[in-house]
Amino acid sequence: MSLEERIKAEIASGGPIPFERFMGLALYDADGYFGGESLRSVRSGDFLTSPEVSPLFGETLARWVITEWERIGDPFQLVEVAAGSGSLLAPLLRVVEVPAIAVEVSPAARRALSERLPHIDVVSTLPDDIRGVVVANELADNLPMALAQRAEAGWRERWVGLDGDRLELVDASPRPEALDWLTAYAGDVPTGGWVEVQLEATRWVEQVLSRMSAGSLVLIDYGDTAENLLPRRADGTLRTYRAHHLGPHPLDEPGATDITADVNFTALTATARAGGAVVDLMRQDVFLAELGLRDRLTEVRHAELAATRAGDSDERLRLRSLRTEIETLLHPRGLGDFRVMVARR
Ligand SMILES: C[S@@+](CC[C@H](N)C(=O)[O-])C[C@H]1O[C@@H](n2cnc3c(N)ncnc32)[C@H](O)[C@@H]1O
Repeated sequence: MSLEERIKAEIASGGPIPFERFMGLALYDADGYFGGESLRSVRSGDFLTSPEVSPLFGETLARWVITEWERIGDPFQLVEVAAGSGSLLAPLLRVVEVPAIAVEVSPAARRALSERLPHIDVVSTLPDDIRGVVVANELADNLPMALAQRAEAGWRERWVGLDGDRLELVDASPRPEALDWLTAYAGDVPTGGWVEVQLEATRWVEQVLSRMSAGSLVLIDYGDTAENLLPRRADGTLRTYRAHHLGPHPLDEPGATDITADVNFTALTATARAGGAVVDLMRQDVFLAELGLRDRLTEVRHAELAATRAGDSDERLRLRSLRTEIETLLHPRGLGDFRVMVARR
């Protein structure tokens, strides 16, 4: 039976399921988008992440790791969660040699990580004790989430049910945990507005900080504060990606498309503060500039000019592609507009 048929059979026998159950199966079942044989976080895939744009992303983050190592001393470890193809960890570890662990739930990604980084631990769950830096790029937007819509009389959840043989969103009373989350973090959403209820992302932040005796969590993703996301609530931010473009409806072709939504950083920063961390929220361009990437851009621009004057076309081309990579990471309406939450303790 295909994944879609299994989901339909589950609904046919037990009734509608919360959207987060559907999203969990669509992405992480053995036949799910990240559960199957294909490595998804690669340049040729459906989406392009900062580490896949350039090794300079990992190299720049190495400066954060060094700062934190100097601050808390040994024992120290680097934990990358959602480590994907290893495109962040590999260049980072070339700059600073620290004990490192890659956490991945995707079997294809774990295989790629073990091949690319044979000297590090590759595991599927978070370590119990963490002292050091935890990095997670584009994890939270892929953690299963529930769906809710604001009605005249209050919040309703949207679960996944069946209309004949078609998967459909159906109305459901909000579960208490969803209602608590919506009340605390959704913001002043007008009637009809859609909200992705990111309970799992919130629990994940809680779990990381409860296991961290000292160090920091650096969580990078698209999204914003609840207030800044309000203009997008009329339709909500749930979407799929395919071949770098918006893909089919999230209920169509489960297992074959990435399902994602903007991350509500109001929920994550509040959770991190409640977990005893000192929290900063900033844009990716600002974070990377503070770690020296804008200075690097200036150096590369000068070197490119010098190579042009010297008539060294190979060097000029090499520097031009390096410059383009840095500009992509810092682009104010692209990756530079991502948010970085740094939670330290
Ligand atoms: C969009 S990809 C990002 C990969 C990589 N960080 C990058 O930026 O290229 C999301 C990744 O998160 C992984 N993932 C999802 N839930 C996870 C969890 N609870 N623990 C570890 N990895 C997880 C998926 O398997 C997938 O590889």
